[in-house]
Amino acid sequence: MRKIFIAAASIAVLALIGPASAQQPIVIKFSHVVAEKTPKGQAALKFKEEAEKLLPGKVKVEVYPSSQLFGDAKEMEALALGDVQFIAPSLSKFDKFTKQLQVFDLPFLFDNIGAIDRFQQGPEGQKLLTSMSSKGFIGLDYWHNGMKQMSANKPLLTPGDAKGLKFRVQPSDVLAAQFIQLGANPQKLAFAEVYQALQLGTVDAQENTWSNSFSQKYQEVQKNFTETEHGVVDYMVVTNATWWNGLPKDVKEGLEKAMKLATKVNNDVADQLNQDARKKIATSGTATIQELTPAQRAEWKKAMEPVWTKFESAIGKDLIQSALKSNSGGKS
Ligand code: SIN
Repeated sequence: MRKIFIAAASIAVLALIGPASAQQPIVIKFSHVVAEKTPKGQAALKFKEEAEKLLPGKVKVEVYPSSQLFGDAKEMEALALGDVQFIAPSLSKFDKFTKQLQVFDLPFLFDNIGAIDRFQQGPEGQKLLTSMSSKGFIGLDYWHNGMKQMSANKPLLTPGDAKGLKFRVQPSDVLAAQFIQLGANPQKLAFAEVYQALQLGTVDAQENTWSNSFSQKYQEVQKNFTETEHGVVDYMVVTNATWWNGLPKDVKEGLEKAMKLATKVNNDVADQLNQDARKKIATSGTATIQELTPAQRAEWKKAMEPVWTKFESAIGKDLIQSALKSNSGGKS
């Protein structure tokens, strides 16, 4: 009996001290929803490599791609419960937790990834990393994917072409509103469900980056892609604040360093992976890519821009103005 009690107490103490003190590596689960051959997929693997190199024996990073562990609907909850330690949702998926990040979803607000990068690295962008701290989440860094394009089974050349189509969107009210603005019918759907929904015709159309579209094989079920570049898919790597703040100092510093290296890899490969994916879609034989003339693009912008005013008070006028300034290379 005494032996059983001592054994139970030892286990309890070990649990309190934590796995690192017990000479066991801290197991860090990093879950995401995209394929490995995408910017985020590559960066998560780089994070694992660097973290385990910088903290040998102290951490073990397990990366779960393609919604294997948690899909869109469950990953924030899993992070809050401590079932996963890192996730990197697209910025459009934080809608429920902060309205400020909706600034990234406003159509045609940012001219390109360079402008988005300037905004993210500026004071307002950096402040947004802590915009969910009251909910128990800390943002560690932004990772780029790229600009979004639209696709459907018909050419989308003018805003009127989108009318009546069922468009898959991420769970963001701004993204839904931009398609309502076009007379289309937005459907919020988890990333893992999009291919099948397009195949079955549950949805007719979608918006995403080249790398996400190609890695999900949307070119098999969508005949026309239009290079609209009307918005962005970028990520925030987030962790659980209580878990993060409870880490030993050296582990936290090592993970921060690994994160910086992973961010660099992500941002170095993102554009190339998107351009490669664009070429593969163009030569797939199943889909064609339409480019818009500046006049056509201006028409789409004019049709979708009223969404800005709808969300201005929730997001903050000043934040929108700062984001706009990043287009000119001025201070964000
Ligand atoms: C992702 O890139 O993480 C997925 C974005 C989406 O749901 O479309």
